[in-house]
Amino acid sequence: MIKHVLSPLDFSVQELEDLMDLANDIEKYPDKYAHACAGKQLATLFYEPSTRTRLSFESAMLSLGGNVLGFASADSSSAAKGESVSDTIRVISCYADICAMRHPKEGAPLVASMKSSIPVINAGDGGHQHPTQTMTDLLSIRSLKGSISNMTVGLCGDLKFGRTVHSLINALVRYPGINFVLISPPELRVPDYIIDDVLKPNNVPYTECTELEEAMPKLDILYMTRVQKERFFNEEEYLRMKDSYILDRAKMELAKKDMLVLHPLPRVNEISVEVDDDPRAAYFKQAQYGKYIRMALILTLLRLSGAVPMELPS
Ligand code: NCD
Repeated sequence: MIKHVLSPLDFSVQELEDLMDLANDIEKYPDKYAHACAGKQLATLFYEPSTRTRLSFESAMLSLGGNVLGFASADSSSAAKGESVSDTIRVISCYADICAMRHPKEGAPLVASMKSSIPVINAGDGGHQHPTQTMTDLLSIRSLKGSISNMTVGLCGDLKFGRTVHSLINALVRYPGINFVLISPPELRVPDYIIDDVLKPNNVPYTECTELEEAMPKLDILYMTRVQKERFFNEEEYLRMKDSYILDRAKMELAKKDMLVLHPLPRVNEISVEVDDDPRAAYFKQAQYGKYIRMALILTLLRLSGAVPMELPS
């Protein structure tokens, strides 16, 4: 049977540890893996714009010696002619060995996985989930902090529409000693289902606040996010919200000396460029980790040598 990746919870904590070990090994010894995917093809089916996610998947496959094909927008695919995701994936299954799909509709990769004969990786579905960004975030935290437990994690910005935030919360509640500070304007609060179905049942401590300055001194990790323009129905509302938070040098002064600043990128205005030189700013390094974890994931899902042992459906 095929293993798909639709949510970060499709991997156990141990499987994620193994995946991160493999990613760190790839980082150290890239040559060892340079031909691991020879003759294999990755399809990138992107119905929504992307730079990092699509290109890091492509770069990951090319660095494994494999090939890539795909499209970068719905307009340049048969979706523009009205083809369904189910039909597209059946066709792509004939051409490629594995695929990464980004779609504006929540659940589209799940629908694709039901008709697919190759592994489907959710590369972001609407405001829902973004599991490979979460794997990137976990690898960044583990590599730069040494562990993923016992931390106060501040999530700041658009917590309502930010799928990276939803996936990261889902993943982090499985680690001991995590507590969250959820920093957003009231209009962009984390959805109730995250509080009621994820935080409360797992007894994970959290506080909600609107002021970044107030949260700053407590945080071990600050995860900044942009306001998700494309999910707003109303342009005026977006313009009102877009500069709710701007992390600058003055705010960084309030933070712990070893706090880590993460951001899935793209950044708009929410982190001033003057913060980029701060040793605690880790967002570009994080993008680099995104490539290593995707290399590890492709190897694992294709069950190729160098892949980590994990429970795959038989
Ligand atoms: C994120 C996404 O697409 O959700 N970006 C990414 O994958 N690196 C975050 C965002 O677009 O704000």
